[in-house]
Amino acid sequence: IIKKEMLYEGKAKQIFATNDENLVIIHYKDDATAFNGVKKSQINNKGILNNKITAILFEQLEKQGVKTHFKEKLNDREQLCEKLTIFPLEVITRNIIAGSMAKRVGIKEGTKPKNIIFEICYKNDEYGDPLINDHHAIALGLATYDELKEIYTITAKINRLLKDMFDKEGITLVDFKIEFGKNNRGEILLADEITPDTCRLWDKETGEKLDKDRFRRNLGNVEEAYIEILKRLGE
Ligand code: C5P
Repeated sequence: IIKKEMLYEGKAKQIFATNDENLVIIHYKDDATAFNGVKKSQINNKGILNNKITAILFEQLEKQGVKTHFKEKLNDREQLCEKLTIFPLEVITRNIIAGSMAKRVGIKEGTKPKNIIFEICYKNDEYGDPLINDHHAIALGLATYDELKEIYTITAKINRLLKDMFDKEGITLVDFKIEFGKNNRGEILLADEITPDTCRLWDKETGEKLDKDRFRRNLGNVEEAYIEILKRLGE
């Protein structure tokens, strides 16, 4: 496969075209941002760690019947993925209340809700990725009713599988954000990444945070936390 021009640069990744119109190369950077890009820095080796972590998790999900964009890991920082049209939605699942939800509705971080909570945000930097509901998403033309229904069904399955994978390694999957896209055959696939950048991961024994909150909240040992997650997932 031959790497061609850069198609897109995001906060943490770059996307390159290839000689195959249905495939892209995703390059994982060390750049870290928080609070909608207000806090900016680098986390040593984050790109290498997140490339590996996403590859492991996406391969596991594929094995268990979740369709993803992931094809193969090419090198330390790059993976080959199917080219998709991304839904401009961030789909958030919460098993435990934390972060923005704890703040928004005044519930103590760490509270376990009776039900699993699904949220969607409109991916739009200018408006700060606002929380929206299904009616907004349809009105804005971000997805159809049927697409949303399928996205929620796949998300619930991904949550069950991920929760299990992390639980076996002594980690609580508190919450996470995923993204979806459509391929040229009209299939909805899991896209983007699943990493400590996009999940809250708490050690089951100690409650220690092993995710990007260490960066957001200046807790220190950020790289060490990402290394620990990779180690437990099996490398
Ligand atoms: O900040 P909030 O509590 O809404 O985040 C919920 C989950 O979604 C967290 O795991 C966070 O890391 C992830 N997230 C993300 N990208 C965003 C917003 C949230 O990966 N832009």
